[in-house]
Order: sequence, then C-alpha cells, then structure tokens
Amino acid sequence: MPAEIAAMDWDALQQAVASCQACGLCQSRKNTVFGVGDTQARWLVVGEAPGENEDLQGEPFVGQAGALLDNMLKAIGLNRQGTGAQGVYIANVLKCRPPANRNPQPEEVLQCESYLRRQVALQQPQIILALGRFAAQSLLQHSVPDVATLPLGKLRGQVHNYEGVPVVVSYHPAYLLRTPQDKAKAWADLCLAMDVMRADAPA
Ligand code: URA
Repeated sequence: MPAEIAAMDWDALQQAVASCQACGLCQSRKNTVFGVGDTQARWLVVGEAPGENEDLQGEPFVGQAGALLDNMLKAIGLNRQGTGAQGVYIANVLKCRPPANRNPQPEEVLQCESYLRRQVALQQPQIILALGRFAAQSLLQHSVPDVATLPLGKLRGQVHNYEGVPVVVSYHPAYLLRTPQDKAKAWADLCLAMDVMRADAPA
C-alpha cells in the first residue's frame, strides 16, 4: 500500500484517506480529516490528530486550538484561505480522531504516515512547522535518533529536515492554551521559520 500511496495525485490520495480502514480509528471516526489550505503553499503546518470538532467538520484545527493557530499564522501573514505568499496548508499526522482525544498509538502513526509523506511530496513546501510532540516524532524519527525520548524543548530552536524540507518544531496550540507563558517561545519558533524562508528566497 505505501508504494501505491506514493504514486497518488491529490484527488486519489484524498479518496484513499476517505476510505481508509488501515487501523481501528476508522470504526469510531465521523469524518476523515485530510487537510486544508493551498496545496501549493510554501508553508506546511503539521499537527497531531483531529479532535471532536475536526472529526465533526472534516477540517483540521477548527476548535479553540485552531483559533489560536489561525491567530499565530495571521501574525506572520498567512491564513488557511490564502494563496501565494499568504498560503499555508494544514494537515495532521493522523487523519482520524483517536477516541476521547487519547494520544495516537504507534501503530496508528505507522499506518497513517504514508499519507502525510505523500502530501509533503505533492505540495513540496519550503518549510514545515511541526506542532507538538507527535508531529515532531513522526517527521523526525529517521533524522533524529533519540527523538522519542527528547523533550520538545530540546527539538526547538534548530532547523531539522524531513525528506529534504526544513522543519521547525514548536509547541502545539492546545499546549499553549494551557501554558500561555510559553507563547513567547512559540513566537520565536515562528521567527526562526520565517528566517529559514527568507534565507531560501531568491535574491
Ligand atoms: N489538534 C491537532 O493536532 N490537530 C487538529 O486538527 C486539531 C487539534
């Protein structure tokens, strides 16, 4: 299946996700949550998994954490309806909601990871913003050997790499809602990501 997924275009990929039964989450989901935004955007934001609102609406980050994410993106001139320089694509590691918002299980991440890999390959973003522990672990598992045991704080402040795309790690917006004193660090992460984009921009 991963080889088939790796050859899909956007439509085929979205249909494959919509009918996916690779793990048990398909039994409890109301909707799959594929992603939202400009599929040609320079920015890709990766979260963890759909919550209750996302499961109901089929769109990532539509709850309270989503409102904070939208504000963070607005602060750097991006929005989920934007295109061109304002464009961003938003996706999650898992495309289906874990019941009662429990943590994703390793088997679920494993089954789902070809979808995100294909999304990245099709979009070809210039920067990936990985929000939270699960996004960081999933994207950096092959490039940061001890990623599973490193606290998120130790992954911040550096530019990592996923399939040739620079990755900046930051806090999950749901964590920032509980820990607003860390918002300044999240802003520093966004500034780092913007620096990467500027360095990458043609002169
Ligand atoms: N948290 C996430 O990581 N993703 C969503 O889509 C919603 C909440």
